[in-house]
Amino acid sequence: HQTAIIVVAAGSGTRLGYGIPKALVPLGGRTLLEHALDRIQLAGCAAQVIAVLPENDEGLADHAAHHPLHPHIVMGGATRTDSVRAGLGALGPDIQRVLIHDAARALTPPETFREVTAALLAGAHAVIPVLPVIDTIKSVTTDPGALQPHVTGTPARQNLRAVQTPQGFDAPILLAAHRAAAHWDQDRAEAVTDDAMLMEMIGERVDTVPGTAQGLKITTAPDLALAESMLSASTP
Ligand code: CTP
Ligand code: MG
Repeated sequence: HQTAIIVVAAGSGTRLGYGIPKALVPLGGRTLLEHALDRIQLAGCAAQVIAVLPENDEGLADHAAHHPLHPHIVMGGATRTDSVRAGLGALGPDIQRVLIHDAARALTPPETFREVTAALLAGAHAVIPVLPVIDTIKSVTTDPGALQPHVTGTPARQNLRAVQTPQGFDAPILLAAHRAAAHWDQDRAEAVTDDAMLMEMIGERVDTVPGTAQGLKITTAPDLALAESMLSASTP
């Protein structure tokens, strides 16, 4: 009855704009991938760690291979979903629970990994870290011909949450959900933006645990600057 953690790090980091894979970008002297692996090691809840890396990037493969966790390394795909699927393909036979984590959330604290794992051990089939939403969110029209979209509704903000990773799952059920999605047409497949959504689509309940400010996804240059300041505030 073991837990695995898959760290997806195969993206290119186009919006960050460093010209290197985002997981290789340094933050306070360590790469984003190393920061993520450090916190997974501190959490101490995984029997297997899988790092999903871009093809043909020796630098990142080197950093992963030399990390004390010695993650199992697999090559990612064209989309995040493809990369998750590649990681799932490397799960060991005894794995009962799997956490899927974005290397881009390099500063997610060990406690979040532990809380997600604890919820799974308590019987949840799917669990995600969430934060309340600060902005008011509107839905809008998306017809390609229109000059500017117009508002179609305002979901009640108290019912909305922003979603982070690691997302934790019962491994056999998540594998079944991924197998079902493998046959979907492109439009339907592209609408899937996280793994919890696949579980929702097969009728599984998704539970939540509290997310953290440090769990922010480093997407753009200002996000990296914010992460730098969080890191220097936490290291004396
Ligand atoms: N990811 C992945 N394989 C892909 C695309 C994304 O493993 N084909 C991973 C990224 O490495 C990241 C996480 O999914 O850890 C979230 O993706 P995102 O923040 O969008 O990262 P990138 O795709 O690298 O960035 P961008 O979209 O700006 O190119
Ligand atoms: Mg991306």
